[in-house]
Amino acid sequence: MVSKVKLNDSNSTRVPAEALQTQLSSIFEAVGCSERHAEIAAKVLVAASVRGVDTHGVANVVGYSKNAADGTYTVPQETSVISESETTALVSGGNGIGLVSAYEAMEIAIEKAKKHGLGMVSIKDGHHVGMVAYYASMALEHDMIGMSMTTAAPAVRPALGAKKMLGTNPIGFAAPAGEERDFFLDMATSTVASGKVGLARRIGVPIPAGWGVTIPEGGEITEPPNGENKDWALNPLGNTREQGSHKGYGLSVMVDILCGVLSGGGFSSQLKSGENMSWVMAIDIAKFRDIDDFKAMMDDMIRELHATPPLPGVEKVLVAGDPEADAMDDRLANGVPVENGQYAAIRKRAAEVGVEVII
Ligand SMILES: NC(=O)c1ccc[n+]([C@@H]2O[C@H](COP(=O)([O-])OP(=O)(O)OC[C@H]3O[C@@H](n4cnc5c(N)ncnc54)[C@H](O)[C@@H]3O)[C@@H](O)[C@H]2O)c1
Repeated sequence: MVSKVKLNDSNSTRVPAEALQTQLSSIFEAVGCSERHAEIAAKVLVAASVRGVDTHGVANVVGYSKNAADGTYTVPQETSVISESETTALVSGGNGIGLVSAYEAMEIAIEKAKKHGLGMVSIKDGHHVGMVAYYASMALEHDMIGMSMTTAAPAVRPALGAKKMLGTNPIGFAAPAGEERDFFLDMATSTVASGKVGLARRIGVPIPAGWGVTIPEGGEITEPPNGENKDWALNPLGNTREQGSHKGYGLSVMVDILCGVLSGGGFSSQLKSGENMSWVMAIDIAKFRDIDDFKAMMDDMIRELHATPPLPGVEKVLVAGDPEADAMDDRLANGVPVENGQYAAIRKRAAEVGVEVII
């Protein structure tokens, strides 16, 4: 079953991406971010909304700006290098806005990759980084492969477990193609990102069985629960042991190790809600082979996958990044849908912090 948890023209308002960028930047600046950091934070949130990742998009400006204003986040912020080698760095996000520290960490990784072929950065003292693959995708314009991950406070049970122990610990991976769309994988290691449960509740649709279970019984949930609590948990990718939940669980712990243990910032169950420890990597393809040859082979692979005969009733076999690239084509042309309640909340927040409401 394809999920019905989506925005449509009756539950959302379309706004041009440029107006969202300006509005969000102004809100971030009004609560103490530098101009550059305000623009970065806005860019990452707008990119998520443009790509159809509405759970991690523009609406988050409300909570993030409140956190900045009340001191939960430190702004203005600094991303500082604690230790480094030619190819690696451990950085502190300075407890600032997570979007900014992950962005700046990926800038460091890309600079190292330009010189040495590889750059890898683990980030501690971090907050929510939003759409994790954004940082991986920063590598694309440099003809590099990017990878990014983040660990979060518990929302997911381990395979066979009856307690939330892991974050939704997502993995992002981006690799450039030539004429085809870039490969762009952006996935929670749970069956779904937790924000989609909240979105389903707000727009009044059931969630597919398998996203989560009651705790401790392990019973099926289709009515979206009202917020996170100890009475339910998301399932690791795979859902049941027979269908591979041990593999989603393993990937989630891998994310915890690279982001939380390697940085020392803490693994999922040591984190408070809203904290994200992260990890990013950039790989310079030209250090391995000619970039045009790489992209031509990527094109061949993607075309072959697209040409796979689909199952009955299915229009087409896709490659990771296709649904979001389609959303991007639509949203850049016709405006970005912002959930009605969240549209009102962004306007209200702009007025509260004393900036012009322009959306
Ligand atoms: N910061 C955090 O704490 C945090 C935690 C979890 C998730 N997230 C974010 O939540 C967002 C949603 O995550 P999700 O796991 O629910 O994503 P999803 O299930 O919507 O998509 C996962 C991936 O599958 C691809 N995909 C979709 N349909 C496909 C098909 N038919 N064939 C091939 N590939 C296909 C998508 O392009 C995407 O790369 C992501 O942006 C993620 O980074 C953030």
